[in-house]
Amino acid sequence: MFELIWNINLLLAWLVGLYTFVHSVCMLAKCLIRNYLRQPLDLAKRYGKGSWAVVTGSTGGIGAEYCKQLAKQGFNLVLFGRNKDKLEELDAKLKKDNSLLQTQIVVADFAEDNSAKFYEHLYRKIQKLDISILINNAGAVIPEFFENCKLESAISCSNINMTGPAMLTRMFINDFLKRTSRTAIINVSSLIRVVPSPYIKEYPSTKQFLTLFSYYLQDNYGDKIDIQDLNPAVVTTNLNNHQIGPDSITPEHCVASSLRDLGQEFCTVPAMIHSFIGQMLFVMNKFMKPLYRATFVNNYEMEILGSFYEKHRNKK
Ligand SMILES: NC(=O)c1ccc[n+]([C@@H]2O[C@H](COP(=O)([O-])OP(=O)(O)OC[C@H]3O[C@@H](n4cnc5c(N)ncnc54)[C@H](OP(=O)(O)O)[C@@H]3O)[C@@H](O)[C@H]2O)c1
Repeated sequence: MFELIWNINLLLAWLVGLYTFVHSVCMLAKCLIRNYLRQPLDLAKRYGKGSWAVVTGSTGGIGAEYCKQLAKQGFNLVLFGRNKDKLEELDAKLKKDNSLLQTQIVVADFAEDNSAKFYEHLYRKIQKLDISILINNAGAVIPEFFENCKLESAISCSNINMTGPAMLTRMFINDFLKRTSRTAIINVSSLIRVVPSPYIKEYPSTKQFLTLFSYYLQDNYGDKIDIQDLNPAVVTTNLNNHQIGPDSITPEHCVASSLRDLGQEFCTVPAMIHSFIGQMLFVMNKFMKPLYRATFVNNYEMEILGSFYEKHRNKK
């Protein structure tokens, strides 16, 4: 009897091991195919030639890059931002490189207002355009420890990272469902959401919301709308003080990966190194908590906060 139980346990252990091995090989193969073999779809054909892409946070690193790459593919652009001068500068630059490009500028600060009136007003400004891609990209981090952060900062962060994307999507969803071509919604989340980040709690939490929101959209509208949950780790932009390291990628790389996967993959991690880091942190946090805290939390996270404090000090 004992021998039988022992043998069953042994068999189960082998099966679990085999499953884990096959699963890891499949993940690796998928990652390699996605990063090195996959060809992007013809997005203009899929979403409608001459249709419009709305990009929030268009004046920053990843947002500006979306504008550049989508204009090249023949999309017209609605440039959302909170700074009119920056928007006009971007507009002029894009038009210089793409003589046929049409644009519309929308000045909106998502931190300032989260009322229904505010979003209705934004919607009315562009409702007549044939919008085929919505990119919820604007995002902000609170450069303060959660327990010390000002209430206004916490509310702003929630407004920019959660209310803005959810409300913009709500304003446009019915128009998207009526289109004859497919439509796309890209939500720019973050890989930091996969692990607890004790010092910068609010940002990962808001990104986790955005990912769950993407899952909801995918489940309910995936048959008509291509949803993408984009999860970068470090991208060298203003958000992280233009941090450069072995794990960082450029906004060009990040956006090219996102557009390559659009319509083909729901959850996109834009680089192999980012997939690896995400997996490593996830496993470390689950099985080696002290090591996770000693390395990621106490070094990496503090480094991020440190660069924010520095940036803040420099601004004063
Ligand atoms: N960089 C990374 O390592 C990284 C990693 C994972 C995810 N992400 C996500 O990627 C997205 C883009 O960030 P980024 O890296 O390109 O940083 P960025 O260069 O700082 O761009 C952020 C954009 O959001 C806009 N924005 C900030 N606050 C706003 C507000 N209150 N109302 C309207 N727009 C506002 C900024 O406008 P201004 O130009 O006026 O400041 C800027 O256009 C964010 O959602 C971020 O969370 C970034």
